[in-house]
This record gives sequence, structure tokens and C-alpha cells, in this order.
Amino acid sequence: MKDNTPLIDISQFQNDLITWYQANKRDLPWRKEKNAYRIWVSEIMLQQTKVDTVIPYFNQFIEKFPTIHDLATANEQDVLKSWEGLGYYSRVRNLQNAIKEVVASYGGEVPKSASELGSLKGVGPYTKGAILSIAYDQPEPAVDGNVMRVLSRILKVQEDIAKPRTKKIFEDHIRNIISHTDPSSFNQGMMELGATVCTPKNPACMLCPVQQHCQAFAEGIEKELPIKSKAKKQKTIPYIVLLIKNKQNSYLIEKRPNEGLLANLWQFPMISLSEMGFNEIPNYFEKEYGIKVQLNREVGKVKHIFSHIIWQLELHEATSINTQTAVSDAQFVNKEEMDSYPFSVSHQKVMQYI
Ligand code: ADE
Repeated sequence: MKDNTPLIDISQFQNDLITWYQANKRDLPWRKEKNAYRIWVSEIMLQQTKVDTVIPYFNQFIEKFPTIHDLATANEQDVLKSWEGLGYYSRVRNLQNAIKEVVASYGGEVPKSASELGSLKGVGPYTKGAILSIAYDQPEPAVDGNVMRVLSRILKVQEDIAKPRTKKIFEDHIRNIISHTDPSSFNQGMMELGATVCTPKNPACMLCPVQQHCQAFAEGIEKELPIKSKAKKQKTIPYIVLLIKNKQNSYLIEKRPNEGLLANLWQFPMISLSEMGFNEIPNYFEKEYGIKVQLNREVGKVKHIFSHIIWQLELHEATSINTQTAVSDAQFVNKEEMDSYPFSVSHQKVMQYI
């Protein structure tokens, strides 16, 4: 590979970064031991989610599924339940599929080969590099948003980090500068620096262990980097959500389709207003669910922001004379029973209205 990494004193940089990391690293539950499975779980949770949020989820997940075997054989609804509230649920569905593959094809051991590991569901370049470096001490890049921010400043990289292709540029730089004696501390040191010192808005350059290597600091442009073009604004989609109660004080809930957004999670029935008018709803329930529904008053609104869309939910009370539906994944359950079903955050918010 051609070495386009700007001139920095690489061994001094490694030394400064790793020494700082060893002395300052946070005491995080997945750092207690080098266990590839646990490191894998932590890295999946840490994608799109902050460390403080992840810690309690990680602890209860590992308590419930302490080994690869436990997760491979677990019921998918139980796995989703333990992810409830973390969001981006395809992460855990992919994780469980990959873990099943580890049992089926690799004797229950997380593969040490980059190509085998990278072929598993949901294991992209970042996760692969994080597992190989942290669990197996291999000098592989693990480049996420934090690492791109740190490195863009150190090396004054001016490429747009919102473009997927830019990541490869950073991975190449990391290959050139990563420590071969302690790649685990090197990569985690980069992540840690991004999380605690080299932060997006007000980097604490005066506390930075690698300040003397930083090109952006030398030029006083640390706050202008990284360059990141703005994402498109999310589209707002209005829905009617129905809290349909029957005479037994049970409410109708349904399982979402097994693909796409919030796959296999449970929710209160919701109808997109772009698909039908309010008055057509009772007819729709009779045809699709085989139940009679009477709509009553509006009881509230819930807004939920995803990365790509916004749900604007208008909540309506409704009543039904039925106790079951014609659809197997739509059931009347009482409030206590509801607790055992995995719901998305937006529908947990809806649940507060009953
Ligand atoms: N963010 C992503 N991976 C991390 C890790 N291993 N430690 C701390 N923050 C992280």
C-alpha cells in the first residue's frame, strides 16, 4: 500500500497515546477480560449508542446470555426484550444470527481470521477490526466516528466524513500508524481520546496527550475538523395509533413484520394517514383483523425521531367487543402480560397513555 500518511513521529505518537490510555482508561465492564464474545456484544451496542447508556444494557445482556451457546440457543423475542429501548434492533438480530453461525461453522469460537469474521452477519469493517484488535491483539483498524474525528485533526484530513468512501482513507492511515505491540490499547486509546478529550465541539486540547502531534492544533483549526456535510432532513410521517380496549380490559397489540424498521417488535396498531382516511379505519379493522372497532377521543401525541424519518403519532382510544383477532400476530393482552413483549421506545411511550 502506498503510504500517504503525513509525517508524524509514529512511534512517539503510539507511545504517547498508549501510555495515556493505560493511565486514564475508564473502568468499563467489557474491559475486565479479553473475551471475544463479550467484546463483540459491547462493540455492537456501542454503535450509535453512548457508553453510559450501554453499561446497564451490557451487564444485563451478559447476565442473561453469558456465553455464545446461551445466545445461540435463545428465543429471539427474549433477545429483543433485552435490547428493548436501545434502538437499531437489526443490530441484535444480526448478532444472534452471526453467533448461531459461529456455533454451526466455527465450533463456537469467534473466528480469528479477518475474512471469516467479516463474513458474519452484521460484522462490518469497524466491528471486525475492534474484535480482532481488542480480543486477539491483531493490528487491524477499527474506525468509527470518534476515530475519524481524532485522526482528521491529528493528520489534517479534509475529506467529508459523511461520505461512506472516506472511511477507507482513515483505515489506510490507521494501518500505517497502529502499534503492532499493543494494537488493542492503540485502538481503544483512539476511541477513548475521541470520547473524552478530542470531543466534537470543544476539544480539550490542553489535556491532550498527543497535542504535539496534532496538525489541526498547530494551525488552530481543530474546531473546523472533521469536515462533515449535513444529512438530509428527516421526513415526518403522520400516524393514527389505536389503544383498542375490550370488555376484559385487554388491549390489542401486534407484532411488526420480520423485516425492515423495528422488525419483530410489538406495537399498538398504527395506521399511516397517507394510506387511508380516519373514517376508513373501522372498516379496515373488520377486514384485516376480523374485529369490530369503535373509535373514541384523541388522548395524546407522541413524536419519535429515527435517523432517517420522524413518526408523528396521534393516539386515539377505541373499544372493541372482540377478544381475539383473525391474525396470529395480533392479540389482546392485559397490562401485566404486555410487560413480557418487546416494544420499541415509541410504543413504550404510547403505553404510558393506558
Ligand atoms: N466506543 C466504541 N467502542 C468502544 C470501546 N471499546 N470503548 C469505549 N468506547 C467505545
